[in-house]
Order: sequence, then C-alpha cells, then structure tokens
Amino acid sequence: MTATASDDNNRLTDLKTRQMRVAPSLLAADFCRLREDVAIVERAGAEVLHLDVMDGHFVPNISFGPGVIAHLRPVSRMFFDTHLMIEEPARYAEAFANAGSDLITFHIEVTDNPNEVIDAIRKHGCGVGVSINPTTEIDTIEAILPKVDLVLVMSVWPGFGGQSFIGDVLTKVAQLRDRLNDNQRLEIDGGINAETIALAAKAGADTFVAGTSVFGDPDPAAAFNRLTQAAQQAV
Ligand code: DX5
Ligand code: ZN
Repeated sequence: MTATASDDNNRLTDLKTRQMRVAPSLLAADFCRLREDVAIVERAGAEVLHLDVMDGHFVPNISFGPGVIAHLRPVSRMFFDTHLMIEEPARYAEAFANAGSDLITFHIEVTDNPNEVIDAIRKHGCGVGVSINPTTEIDTIEAILPKVDLVLVMSVWPGFGGQSFIGDVLTKVAQLRDRLNDNQRLEIDGGINAETIALAAKAGADTFVAGTSVFGDPDPAAAFNRLTQAAQQAV
C-alpha cells in the first residue's frame, strides 16, 4: 500500500509554528540502511526529514525519486520536506505528493510561471516551498511570498552534500525574515554545522537542513541534538 499526503493525522509537526528545527537530509544517510538511519534521527527528536531530489539536468547529480520516498512513508511520522532540484516541478508534483511528501519545494530558477507550479503542488494537498540558489535575488520570489509555506535559501550550490557554507546568503536570510510571517518557515540548506547553524539562526532562519553534519557523524542522534542546541542557544 502506498501512503499518501492525506494520511497526515500522525505527523509530528505541520511546520506552522516557529521553532528551531534541524531537518536531517537523507542524501547523507547510508542508502543500504535508509530505514534504520531515518529511525535514528526520528528517535533523537527530528520532526522534519529533508528529501533531496535531483534530476541530472537542473543540477549535475542524480539522487532518488518518489519510489524511495513512498517506501519510507509508512515507517516514519516525520514531516517529509521534499526539495525538488529538478526541471518541470509541476509535472512531477503529483508523484511526489502521492509518495507521501508533506511539503514540496521547487526552485524559482526553473520556471517563468511560479504560480502554475504552486497550484500544481497545492492541488495535491501538499505545502509549498520555493528555493533560491546562492546568487538568486529575493526580488525573484517577492510576488509569490504570500503564497508559500516555506522559503529555502541555498547556502551551497545545489547538487551535492558536503560543501562549504556560503556566508554571503545570510543577508538574504535576514531580509526574508522581515518579509515572512510566523506561519512561514525560513529554511537554509548546505554546509550547516555547529558553527554555521548559529550564524543562520541569528540571521533569522528557523529550519536547518543538515546532511553531512548529522549522518556523517559516528553518532547521528548526538549530532542532531548538538545542532538543535546550537540553533536554540544562538537566538
Ligand atoms: C544540496 C542539498 C542539500 C544537502 C546538504 O544540493 O540540497 O540538502 O543534502 O548537505 P550538507 O548538509 O552535507 O551540506
Ligand atoms: Zn536540500
């Protein structure tokens, strides 16, 4: 049986409240034991699982698709935060919604018609996020800000885990904080560790994607807790 986004009665969060949340990125997990790695961070208290989908076109890498997400859905109550680094996000919204995504983020760089993408995602019952690359200006998303649930600021060039944090994006984080309301999440993705998470939290981010710094640690649960603490203590 395939779980759907409507089976959401038991989710750990709906992301509507503002608090510091670390979202472990599946990309850095052990792909031979995804179920176990997901359970480790969930037991540690993670409410959000970040799912990086790459198509080999928008980014020079290929990761996984809706099939993997659908297999994880029945074994986790975490909020599935799907980050589409793909061209034609509207075309695939239904597949990622049916796989069990709670929210689907698309990149503004792939479309001239963001409203069409937003409608395609909403139609299938998911929350909507929009992402901007490190050098993409926030005026490209200004008009659609009232329509999204989350803004994702990339602090590395999308495509690979394990890259270094680009600090210049913190200016955009601070500007976005002022433009978003308390129901909207401000997420940062790439190069997040115990030091950079504090900078991002101070700038106004509330949701922090962490791949390498969680699953690359010998004790991912302890790493998750350290990062959460570092974010909480920074503000
Ligand atoms: C990069 C992805 C990230 C990635 C982050 O394209 O969007 O979510 O998993 O990995 P780390 O935390 O290792 O920088
Ligand atoms: Zn991501």
